[in-house]
Amino acid sequence: MSDFVDLNPDIEDRGEAKYFHGRTGILDSFQHRMKWAEKDPKKGTTFLIQAAPGAGKSALLYKCGELAEGQDWKVADITLDALWDATTLLQALGRSKEAGQVEGAWSASMEGEIGIPGAGSARLGGSYERKKTPAPRNTLEVLQNGKGKLLLVLDEAQRLGKHTPMHHAHRASILLDAIHNGKIAGRPVMLITAGLSATADVFEGLGVSRFKDNCYVELGPLKPEAEREVIKDWLKKEGRTKEDPTLWIDAIMQKTHGWPQHVAAYAQAAALQVRGDKRAMTPQGLQAMLEVGKMKRIKFYESRAKGLDEDHRAAIAEAFASAREDQTQTRKAIMEPLVKAVGKEQADTVFKRALRKGVLDHRNGRYAIPIPSMRRWFIDNYFI
Ligand SMILES: Nc1ncnc2c1ncn2[C@@H]1O[C@H](COP(=O)(O)OP(=O)(O)O)[C@@H](O)[C@H]1O
Ligand SMILES: [Mg+2]
Repeated sequence: MSDFVDLNPDIEDRGEAKYFHGRTGILDSFQHRMKWAEKDPKKGTTFLIQAAPGAGKSALLYKCGELAEGQDWKVADITLDALWDATTLLQALGRSKEAGQVEGAWSASMEGEIGIPGAGSARLGGSYERKKTPAPRNTLEVLQNGKGKLLLVLDEAQRLGKHTPMHHAHRASILLDAIHNGKIAGRPVMLITAGLSATADVFEGLGVSRFKDNCYVELGPLKPEAEREVIKDWLKKEGRTKEDPTLWIDAIMQKTHGWPQHVAAYAQAAALQVRGDKRAMTPQGLQAMLEVGKMKRIKFYESRAKGLDEDHRAAIAEAFASAREDQTQTRKAIMEPLVKAVGKEQADTVFKRALRKGVLDHRNGRYAIPIPSMRRWFIDNYFI
């Protein structure tokens, strides 16, 4: 019988990375911020990670959550509606029992987060006081009613904004402002959030800007050392090869440019190949693995491009065919062919959509097609 184990052929796009490496500078900054918030909860912090799809945002969020748990923070993954809906937030915090009028609140308060005022005592005339504790009226009160160090984790935050009704956005902005500026009395509460390239703009629209030092991160590719370690782990731990993986690692790195999504896709294909070949690393195996990796890569680009019409893609390809040395482009240079293609009014909408779909990425005031091989694919396919 072969020792081949069925490995999930599709890379997970949420949560924990299987063989996480790198990002040490960012993790250090985050750790530093946690310590700071513990010392002085009045300072508040939002930690925002912004990048194109596949850059490793979700994996990094997970890692930060792990770090926080290690320092005895309570960590809660939240969805967007938890910013404005008290019941949803209570659920995410494991405090569902506080939703609605709670009778006998002292027992409810023993679960999840602790912190209903006046809970926990009161024996009057031989019977327990059956006190009604009013449910928190809004999400800010939910946080104010709790105790202890709390990290809220919000992924896909770019979705805030576009489809968020005004009254929800208003409620969300009150909560975000309170967290960002340390207005939740007496307890350190931090928000770590990740999203595509328009996320910081969305937060700015909700009144959250001026991120503290190192608390706003535009996530780039993995450094070569980290990339190497990730691929090596996949080959050694997942593929279980005993051979020297250097040749394969070098071959993969030429295709992946440190882009986590590609690194994971190629490395997983490589591990599967090695396992299928009884842990041997053959030249045929290497070729086959590169083919699979490439297929996955193209599929990934196609799924990104799907959000744009053909003429939008052509306009963006045109803008980048003449991009300067560092392969970034100004907004103006991208708008020019877009305006030609769809007119002035539409162009702005298309530009924003390209950011939301991860076809464009924000780089220090300029814009890029996030991955070098993706840019080439765009130009080859759509630049006429
Ligand atoms: N630092 C890392 N080390 C190893 N694998 C990573 C790392 N960051 C991301 N990955 C992997 O790369 C892929 C894309 O990462 P993900 O976090 O889903 O990206 P994003 O959320 O930005 O779209 C996933 O398979 C993930 O497990
Ligand atoms: Mg993600």
